[in-house]
Amino acid sequence: MTVTQNRTEIHNLTPIERQARYWNDESQAFDAIYSHRKSALSNWLDRVFRRDMYERFRFAVERSQPIAGRTVLDLGCGSGRYVVALAEAGASRVLGIDIAPRMLELARELAAEHGVADRCEFQLTDVLGLDAGAGPGFDVVLAIGLFDYIRDPAPALSKIRAVTAGRAIISFPRLLTWRALPRKLRLALRGCEVHFYSRAAILRLLNETGFSLQEIRRVGKLDCVVAVPGVAASGRQDPALVTAQSQ
Ligand SMILES: C[S@@+](CC[C@H](N)C(=O)[O-])C[C@H]1O[C@@H](n2cnc3c(N)ncnc32)[C@H](O)[C@@H]1O
Repeated sequence: MTVTQNRTEIHNLTPIERQARYWNDESQAFDAIYSHRKSALSNWLDRVFRRDMYERFRFAVERSQPIAGRTVLDLGCGSGRYVVALAEAGASRVLGIDIAPRMLELARELAAEHGVADRCEFQLTDVLGLDAGAGPGFDVVLAIGLFDYIRDPAPALSKIRAVTAGRAIISFPRLLTWRALPRKLRLALRGCEVHFYSRAAILRLLNETGFSLQEIRRVGKLDCVVAVPGVAASGRQDPALVTAQSQ
């Protein structure tokens, strides 16, 4: 297939289909950042340039505690690294959803390899397609490395709010970093949109969608958030958000 044919084909896809295609193609390479099944040089480059991925993993797993006997929903679960880590840590049920079938294949294999497949479920769906009425809500909801790829974040965050009974742990890529523009251009060439967020935008989104902020922490080029269900904004701002905004 020529480059022009490839570009035409990408342009005929919906934004979600483009994302799914990109992540299908990237699934093995993405998971190798965790498995380290690559050359020593590539592993070294990951340790230097993708440090955020390891740090956000630690942040999310730590903030999910205590997890024994709890339920987890992982949105944009990718190759299942968080799903499996939390199932191994004692979660009673972990549901991972993603739009890329190959990511879900890797996630299922990983759950089986680690002997936790009985407590892990996977669904091929977009965040917005999630059935909010399917249960009483999850104790922990993760959206790590997801909002980078969401064109319209407010409806996705409202959906997350609707399925969160305990807390939501969410990462947002920061707007003003050296990496934002090159990353946006590099991925745009492959048909994958990337979005970045100012802290003010994150706080406004949380406020508008009925989340109350517990913690917002800078993790390299990300802002990582722990939020709990609160009251949707009606012109009044959550005092915790006002404090975080001024930090
Ligand atoms: C950077 S990966 C992160 C995977 C995993 N959370 C992690 O940090 O290891 C982003 C994942 O989000 C998925 N994704 C992108 N847009 C999505 C959407 N609208 N709904 C569900 N999943 C989505 C992609 O297919 C991809 O697997």
